[in-house]
Amino acid sequence: MFVRNCWYVIAWDHEIPSTQENGQIFTRTVLGEPIVVYRAGNELVALADRCCHRGAPLSKGRFEGNNLRCGYHGLLFNPDGQCIEVPGMSAAPAKACVKRYPVVAKNKWIFVWMGEPEKADRAMLPDNYSCDSPDWHYKPGYLHYQTNYLLICDNLLDFSHLSYVHEKTLGGSHAIAQSRAAVSDILTHGQRGLRVQRSVAEVPPPPSYQRIHTFSGLIERWWDYDFLLPGTLLMKSGGKPSKSNSVDSGEVELHSCQTLTPETEHSTHYFFQQGHRTGQGDAELAGSMYQMLIRAFEEDKDMIGAQSACLASAPDFTMLPLHLDGALTRYRRLVDAEITSESAAPAASQSSATTAATKRGPVVA
Ligand code: FES
Ligand SMILES: [Fe+2]
Repeated sequence: MFVRNCWYVIAWDHEIPSTQENGQIFTRTVLGEPIVVYRAGNELVALADRCCHRGAPLSKGRFEGNNLRCGYHGLLFNPDGQCIEVPGMSAAPAKACVKRYPVVAKNKWIFVWMGEPEKADRAMLPDNYSCDSPDWHYKPGYLHYQTNYLLICDNLLDFSHLSYVHEKTLGGSHAIAQSRAAVSDILTHGQRGLRVQRSVAEVPPPPSYQRIHTFSGLIERWWDYDFLLPGTLLMKSGGKPSKSNSVDSGEVELHSCQTLTPETEHSTHYFFQQGHRTGQGDAELAGSMYQMLIRAFEEDKDMIGAQSACLASAPDFTMLPLHLDGALTRYRRLVDAEITSESAAPAASQSSATTAATKRGPVVA
């Protein structure tokens, strides 16, 4: 089960070809539903990647102008998902259609709305401003996980793991695990989630910071982030000379946007970037920061993958709640409450036109 009335990132903007000339059809699965995304002129289109005739993937077909022709028996669909031509028939049946998803682009992320279309609300889009700002520089990242997305949410909601999982990359000090994070609710119009704030004083600068700004003494580090439904982290973090450090000046300031999109119950898309201020560091900084981030996220992936396998081998295992689980426990409660509320709503959003289309049976002349 997933929260459905949410915007989910399906792609980075650059992944969707700007024209259809090369014939490539982008497809990715979200919440178990394969979706084709393309551009019809200036308009983004997201359609179920499953032909309503016999269920073949439309992504194995071809573009004809702004329309998409199924590669199996040739049904032609317009950007609304309506079939406008069936070979050998004078007119396409009105019920021949595939689901069209609300889709928007914001700051280089392409979002699809997986719930009831009439509830799609742009106020619910996250403010991923550093993904498209002249003030920030980064390299976009993507990872694929073979685990449920909630285990990755758990990881992002408890940075005490930086001290151990990322000891040699992002961490560098056990003081991070010793510190307590302050956690509060975010419940504004459109935005639902948690604010998590943590800082540590008098710690050595991690290797990644030294690429941006050279510190010779100890620093104070902080991580302030919002973690929003369905699984988006928007974080300001950085470091500056600690109180005892009178030799250094200046600071490191980072902004990171990361989001998790369930592919299925057992796999997840992970889109991420960590931006630094334009003008800081050398020309290769964005590339080396990206490599460092990838190394760190592979460390997470290795641990979470092993945890997932360990949990799967012991279905009766019960986790031991500790003080450091505060944020992730609250977030899981929020997810459960949203799913329960959507399930109880009269027009339950778990139904989909895709499912309806596949149950219609064959369209006959
Ligand atoms: S499956 Fe698409 S036209 Fe037959
Ligand atoms: Fe991590």
